[in-house]
Amino acid sequence: SFTGENFASRMKALLPAHVFKMIEDIGAIADSEKVAVYLVGGMVRDLLLGLPNVDLDLVVEGNGIAFGTKLAKELTGRIYCHEKFGTANLFLNNGLKIDIATARTEYYEFPAALPTVENGSLKQDLYRRDFTINAMAIGLNHHNWGQLIDFFCGCSDLRRKLIRILYNLSFVEDPTRIIRSIRFEKRYDFTIEEDTLRFAQKAIEQNFLERVSANRLKEEFVLILKEKNMIAIFKRLKEMDIWSRILPELELTPGILHFLEHVTEDSSQLTSLLGPVDPGLLTLLLLCHQADEKRVAANIERFQWSKKYNLVLMKTAHEKKKIHAMLQGKDVPISKIDLLFRDLSNETILYFYIVSPDPEQKKIINYLRLRKERIPVVSGKDLKMLGIKPGPVYREILEMLRTARLDGIVQSRAEEISLIKNYLTKEEML
Ligand code: CTP
Repeated sequence: SFTGENFASRMKALLPAHVFKMIEDIGAIADSEKVAVYLVGGMVRDLLLGLPNVDLDLVVEGNGIAFGTKLAKELTGRIYCHEKFGTANLFLNNGLKIDIATARTEYYEFPAALPTVENGSLKQDLYRRDFTINAMAIGLNHHNWGQLIDFFCGCSDLRRKLIRILYNLSFVEDPTRIIRSIRFEKRYDFTIEEDTLRFAQKAIEQNFLERVSANRLKEEFVLILKEKNMIAIFKRLKEMDIWSRILPELELTPGILHFLEHVTEDSSQLTSLLGPVDPGLLTLLLLCHQADEKRVAANIERFQWSKKYNLVLMKTAHEKKKIHAMLQGKDVPISKIDLLFRDLSNETILYFYIVSPDPEQKKIINYLRLRKERIPVVSGKDLKMLGIKPGPVYREILEMLRTARLDGIVQSRAEEISLIKNYLTKEEML
């Protein structure tokens, strides 16, 4: 089942020049090393869809690790091998990543024939993969350069916009594929094929997702956070009764979905005042909206997000009540808001903005504006010039200046200096 089209020109048109050149080099190295090498997986799928994708996935018929080692040397990069699985991950100095898998040539099955001619081991490797659209290959050796190899009608499923497993036990063997199927469905606006959907539902009902390690679930979840159609994926996960199995601590309520849907328009008002925001962390903060500290802690315990994520999630959960109460207060001085807000991450501030009613949103915006405008001009250096002996008093003075500036008590250098003098005479009198 080979199609006639040669994909070399398509690769050349779609891929950045240095990536295409590298694929040509890989083909040449494969020839000189006398192994059959194929481009597989996501890149082939995306090439057929006309989408750029620079993550290289290779299958080697022969010794994948030896070939990877050769590539690391020729293309300059670092290699991480998993001997047990015959796989290797290459991190090239130019920033590109290459995953390599070994398709074991099973000579005992082909005592006479050359397995490479039959593509026997490649076919087996592809058959063990997740979906037909991800199980196509493109030959990289000279004799089959650019040739699409499509054993399982992946091309036809792409055209029909279908996500289809290759064998009935696929979801049982790897339940994370249930989550992947939804990610691809929403990314490409495809449909999960009827039988595939039934197998997925059955695996869900039979609690196969509960067997997956927290770390693998986290990896899948992080991939979803990067998807453009993340919210559609969330909704589908909930609809298929998957959400509560993978994120039992964080309930996906209609309210939270509403916040998520309005993140972009809400943040546009704040980004110039706030600076960079990590969208993944913001999403997690919103997902924690209904969860109390105990639940957030349980989620962190299970998923072990990054150090920064863990800290921000816990701190936000911890300060939530205090901050809402403060924002609801009447005539709260800016310096009071600052006391709670100065140590909050940009993501946390944006989170409070998104979930707060209009009057509180106005207070947050006003605070962020003033925080930028009302900055003391007198610095530590100036204090030295004023003849003040360096010590802990510097911190006290600078802190006092910040407060006075924020609340509009001093508005010029002269006023700052007189405030300092006033403060010091009071100190002396004590
Ligand atoms: N794969 C699989 N089962 C999984 C994960 C991956 O069979 N649970 C196979 C698929 O053939 C997939 C390839 O490994 O195409 C590479 O995996 P990955 O890089 O995770 O996925 P991509 O298909 O490249 O998807 P993405 O565009 O999200 O990177």
